[in-house]
Formats: sequence, C-alpha cells, structure tokens
Amino acid sequence: MIRRMSWELSTFGKNLCEGSGIGELMDDLGEALAGGGDVKMLGGGQPAHVPEVDAVWRKRMEEIMAEPGGLEKMLGNYDVPAGNEAFRMALADLFRKEFGWEVTHGNFAVTMGGQTAFFFLFNALAGKFADGSRKKILLPLLPEYIGYANQSVGADFFEAIPARIEKTGPHEFKYRVDFDAVDPGDDIAAICVSRPTNPSGNVLTDGEIEKLREIARAKGIPLIVDNAYGAPFPNVIFSEVTPVWDEEMILTLSLSKIGLPGTRTGIVVASKEVCRQVSSMTSIVGLANANVGQEILRPLVASGEILRLSKEVVKPFYEKRSKMAQEWFARELDDSVPYFIHRSEGALFLWLWFEDFPITARELYERLKKRGVLVVPSEYFFFGLPHDTDWKHTRECIRVSYTMDAETVEYGIKVIADEVNGVYAR
Ligand SMILES: Cc1ncc(COP(=O)(O)O)c(C=O)c1O
Repeated sequence: MIRRMSWELSTFGKNLCEGSGIGELMDDLGEALAGGGDVKMLGGGQPAHVPEVDAVWRKRMEEIMAEPGGLEKMLGNYDVPAGNEAFRMALADLFRKEFGWEVTHGNFAVTMGGQTAFFFLFNALAGKFADGSRKKILLPLLPEYIGYANQSVGADFFEAIPARIEKTGPHEFKYRVDFDAVDPGDDIAAICVSRPTNPSGNVLTDGEIEKLREIARAKGIPLIVDNAYGAPFPNVIFSEVTPVWDEEMILTLSLSKIGLPGTRTGIVVASKEVCRQVSSMTSIVGLANANVGQEILRPLVASGEILRLSKEVVKPFYEKRSKMAQEWFARELDDSVPYFIHRSEGALFLWLWFEDFPITARELYERLKKRGVLVVPSEYFFFGLPHDTDWKHTRECIRVSYTMDAETVEYGIKVIADEVNGVYAR
C-alpha cells in the first residue's frame, strides 16, 4: 500500500511552501489567461500585448533562427551566472550614454526575473547575522509591492512606514513619504522602494529619492530602487523624474513589463561586489540564467532601439490606457461616492481608495470574483506593520490593472463601480 508522506517543514519550508498572496495572485492570473471561464482579469501584473512590441519579438526570433547556429546557441548553451557578457556590455554602454553613469558590464548582474533579484538581495542583506542579531528591510512608503511580502527565508524582515495621504483633487490623492518617521535604527539593513510604486502608480519625486539617499548614506546602508516599470525601459512613467544611481544604491530592472515576462529576465545595477554576490547566488540556486530574453534584447539595447520603443510606443500606450480607465471610473462611479484614485504617475494599474468603506476590500474582491471580475484587494499590500496596527485605509483600496483589452477593462470597471455604488447606497 502506498501511503502519502507528509514531512515536517523547516522555517525556510514554512515560509516558502505554504502559499502566499503573490502565489494566489499568479494562480488567478494563470487560470484567467488560460481561458478559465469568462474571467475579466484586472488583478495581475500581466503586461499588455502591444502589437508593435509583439512584432519586434517575432522579428528578433526570426533573426535568431536565420543566423547560423543562432537558435542552437541560445537554447543549447548555459549562460554564465552573472549574465551574458555582450548583453551586459550593451547595457553598460546604454546607461553611460543615456544617464552618464560610470558603469561597466561588471556593474550589471542578470537574474531569473526581478522577483528573484529581490529574493537574493533581501535575504543576503537582512535576516539573521553571525552574532545572533537580526536586521530588516525598511519600506519607507507603504503600500508596497505584494511580491516582497513573503520573501524572507527566516523570520519576517520588513519594517514599513505608512504613507502620508494627501488629497489632491475631488477624487484624487497621492501618497507622500512621511519623513518624520523615516529614522532607520541599527537593525535596518537597507531601504527599498519601487518607483513607479506597485500598487499605487506613485512615482517618488526626485526630492524624495534624494532624501532617502541621504538617509541611507548617513547610515551606511544601501537604497534599493525597484525600477520594474521605470527608465530607461519600459519607461512607464508619466511624470518628469530623473533616474539616479551610484555605488551606494542598488537598482533593479526587468524585461517583463516591456513585454517579455515569459523569458524571466531581471537586471541588477550595483557595485561590482554586489553584482558578484548576486551572480554567486544565481549559480547556487539555479546554475545560470535564462538566455532567451537577453538574446532577444541585446541588439535593441546596443542600437538604442529599446529607448525608442519604450518612449514612443510602450509609455504612450499605457498612459492612454490609464486616462481611459480613469474616465470610465469617473463615468461609472456615483459622484457622491467618496472615492479617490491615486494620481496615476506610472505602472500598469489604478489604485482606488474608498474612504470610510462600509465593507472591506477583501469582501469587495470576493463579490467581484463572483461576478467574474478579478482585482487585488489592498490588504495584501500593507505588510511590515506592527501586528496591533489598525489602520482602516489598509482595507479600503483596490488595485485595478488596465493592461487587458479595452473592452475587458471597460466591462470590469462597470462591474466594480456598480458594486461600489451599491455598497455606499445601502
Ligand atoms: C514592483 C515590481 N517589482 C518586481 C516585479 C517582478 O517582476 P519580474 O520577476 O517579472 O521581473 C514586479 C512584477 O510585477 C513588480 O511589480
């Protein structure tokens, strides 16, 4: 007789094997994309299929196939753990020219997606130390990216500071860093922000970034900036900001949001020492990186075409989508509903706040799911707060992605608005 075995899990196992918000989200996303029922997926981080961009990937694959040995080399060779050297050299050239940063290919390390880069960086910098002490990652602007929440292999390691809420219009608000509260103690290993921020679409101002840099520098800790939606690619930023970097910062980028999430390619820009550490972790955890994304993108990085695509195609596409989604919400939500949309400064979603919401965001999510519309409720994005924190804002927001086709987004927004109007009318 075969008996099913169930083994006890280590702390690592318990933290990583027993499900997470990001896991549920990716499952929902996968099922919806696989055509599971007639679900309107306004929840996940799936980028849009921009026809002009998809055409570029197809053309690149044809070029690789036409090149003698091109396909065989891409599929049949292990990459070096730091990432393909020609790809990293092209990146270094691009960043030198575009931003004037003093970088060489040694300042770039490729990872299996941005998500993996964060798993490596957070766990290398924070957690338990040889003397028994513990260090944490400071998130100075909460809500923050759901994907960080469960990445600790040991005890929880986030300390987060609730954003200050500033109402900027009758139905608009913006989060600001509460600098009175940003005072990292000796137990803080690094400060981390996503810019543009997932979930809110906030873009930290140059002034806010500068202040965070100063605070990190004074403490001798790195400032990590997650540039998954930022410049120079995919450049889904609608406000005017300047990308900055020096060896005291760690910047991460990803090929996902420009349209290559299936290739699982992330990029870390950091000091050579940090890049060597990331490369060491890549070899231990996965031997090597995926080649395909690097190979598709390399000539586009070398020629600068990636900049044109980002500026002229990708950014305007999402900016238009964002405006449309905002107009649909304004049309569908009753004006008496106290809703506030975070000022849309970048990324792929709108973040809606329903002030004094009579139900929780989680309950709204359940009701919408029954009606075939998926969004992400705010509870997931507020982690790293003391357990006794009772901040109702954490239960009053939803994230709505506008990357699916326009009819799907418009229909989804109608259903969301209908449900929310009903909640306040009762
Ligand atoms: C802010 C942010 N960082 C990192 C990632 C990780 O993306 P990937 O692992 O596909 O590069 C995402 C994905 O949605 C994100 O939104």
